[in-house]
Amino acid sequence: MNTQVSTKQILKRLFNSYIKKHYIKISISMVCMVIVAGATATNAWLMQPVLDDIFINKNKDYIIIIPVVILLIAFVKGIASYFQSVLMSFVGYKIVADLQRHMLTTLLKCDLSFFNTTNSGTLVSRFLADVGALSRGVHNVIINIVKDSLTFIFLLGVMFHHDLKLATITLLIFPLAIYPISRIGKRLRKISKNTQVGFGLLTKKLTESFQGIKTIKSFNAEKIEISKIDKEIENLFFLTLKSTKVNSISRPLMETLGGFAVALIVFVGGTQVITGETTPGTFFSFLTALLMAYQPLKSLATLNATLQISMASAERIFEIIDQKPTIIEKKPNKDSMLKANNSYNLRIEKVDFKYENSPNLILKNINIEIVKGQKVALVGHSGAGKTSLLNLIPRFFDVKKGHIFLGNINIRDLSLKFLRDHFSIVSQDVILFDETIKTNIAYGRENANLHEIQNACEKANCNEFIDDLPNKLNEYVGEKGVKLSGGQKQRIAIARAFLKNSPFLLLDEATSSLDSKSERKIQVSLSKLMKNKTSLVIAHRLSTILDADKIVFLHKGKVEAVGKHKFLLKNSKIYKNLYEIQFKEKK
Ligand SMILES: Nc1ncnc2c1ncn2[C@@H]1O[C@H](COP(=O)(O)OP(=O)(O)OP(=O)(O)O)[C@@H](O)[C@H]1O
Ligand SMILES: [Mg+2]
Repeated sequence: MNTQVSTKQILKRLFNSYIKKHYIKISISMVCMVIVAGATATNAWLMQPVLDDIFINKNKDYIIIIPVVILLIAFVKGIASYFQSVLMSFVGYKIVADLQRHMLTTLLKCDLSFFNTTNSGTLVSRFLADVGALSRGVHNVIINIVKDSLTFIFLLGVMFHHDLKLATITLLIFPLAIYPISRIGKRLRKISKNTQVGFGLLTKKLTESFQGIKTIKSFNAEKIEISKIDKEIENLFFLTLKSTKVNSISRPLMETLGGFAVALIVFVGGTQVITGETTPGTFFSFLTALLMAYQPLKSLATLNATLQISMASAERIFEIIDQKPTIIEKKPNKDSMLKANNSYNLRIEKVDFKYENSPNLILKNINIEIVKGQKVALVGHSGAGKTSLLNLIPRFFDVKKGHIFLGNINIRDLSLKFLRDHFSIVSQDVILFDETIKTNIAYGRENANLHEIQNACEKANCNEFIDDLPNKLNEYVGEKGVKLSGGQKQRIAIARAFLKNSPFLLLDEATSSLDSKSERKIQVSLSKLMKNKTSLVIAHRLSTILDADKIVFLHKGKVEAVGKHKFLLKNSKIYKNLYEIQFKEKK
């Protein structure tokens, strides 16, 4: 599984898709880097006239000229530094934003089956940690390659200009340091990958704990949770430490070699000054250039390490960007053969279904016809496959075998938008966003006006609790709607469905026991909602099955019996059984 994509491939892709388009900014920034590098080298070169002309020859003109030149250089270097930094940061942040946008677009197009198997904490960490690491890497690598290598080359130029022999000695020592350092890259890439995985696990555990805080408290499990998360924190600590250790392996080597070079130069150069072969100014200028060359060389030596860390992140980011949805829209589609938002017969024909990770079929040979305008109730024991069947109709999952037809057109031949526009879905677990009630009701219908929203609230019996809220429709509902009761959330979901006003209603009645008063309220709003619609209702309420045109009894993934309530009660023992345990006492 761990197929490490080659650095070259990743870089090529990064360059073509994310970096190339900023070429003007990068070019200007590079020109600025050339200026900065040149200014640094000029400073080193200036040591020679400072020493020889001012200190030794005591030339009075130079005492004005040189400080002015130094000031000028500092000014130019400052300006160039500013633009280089701002422009490169712009490019870096732009890459972050582009990658995040691409990840988001792919992710939201991914199927439910992808989210069933991928943890949201891991995804969040790819969004934040990986993208950040990659952008820092790209930013540093470009600066390394251009600014540091140019600074190093210019300083080397100053050294060669001053003393051919000494410069040659220096040039021979430096490459010795580069080789071992370039070898640690691979190890770093692996550690970095593990670090990001660790970061993902920590994010996952944290989100889970915060979301499950009620469960944690009711089980007095704070200590267990803390120790679980602490393990991840500790793991991350060791991984980052290891990464720094590997990354710093080059330090002792670089320091020793640097010291060795300086010592050698002082010895050889000092001898030359004593014998009068060279001036003290030339020697000091050489030494300054050598000392100044140390920093860019050090960055260059760790270039590969920086690169490998970003490559690990890039791999993980591209993994997301390359996700392909499995629910595919056919092109061209047959949307035009049906009228948008019109009611049709819905036919489920010989359908088999299983989840990617489930060993056996969840639904077997399902045949159901829902005549337009009718209300069909789906009943069965918990785990029978009712919700799964409902999810197939708007293609949240695709059937494994068989077909589903909307007005005689296979739903696979319709665009997802066209298909899903036909259905209002009220599901078992209502998920609200941390927004106002108004925004939640108008979700997916941004252009709905206030009147329409109020109308939907009225029909869904929401007004009685909305009127009690201090900010009415503008009240924030909290994460996942925590500030509302279960029944209130359901009524908001019903109001959403009223507003969407699709010809079909797919309803997964909540099993959670509500008190009979709110149960009734929901019942009243649901009956209003189902009026003049074609509906498929997973029923847990007696009223729903009593007035259903047809009841489908699902048992262990198979249609066990079909008919009206009275008929089934008389003819199906197993239905009678279910009725007695699930519906009768709920009256
Ligand atoms: N996302 C999933 N991945 C794998 N298996 C699943 C998934 N969702 C449900 N299942 C399995 O599919 C079977 C049918 O589940 P489903 O949710 O359709 O039952 P249900 O009839 O709606 O039950 P309930 O009345 O309790 O809501 C169960 O055995 C369940 O374990
Ligand atoms: Mg269910």
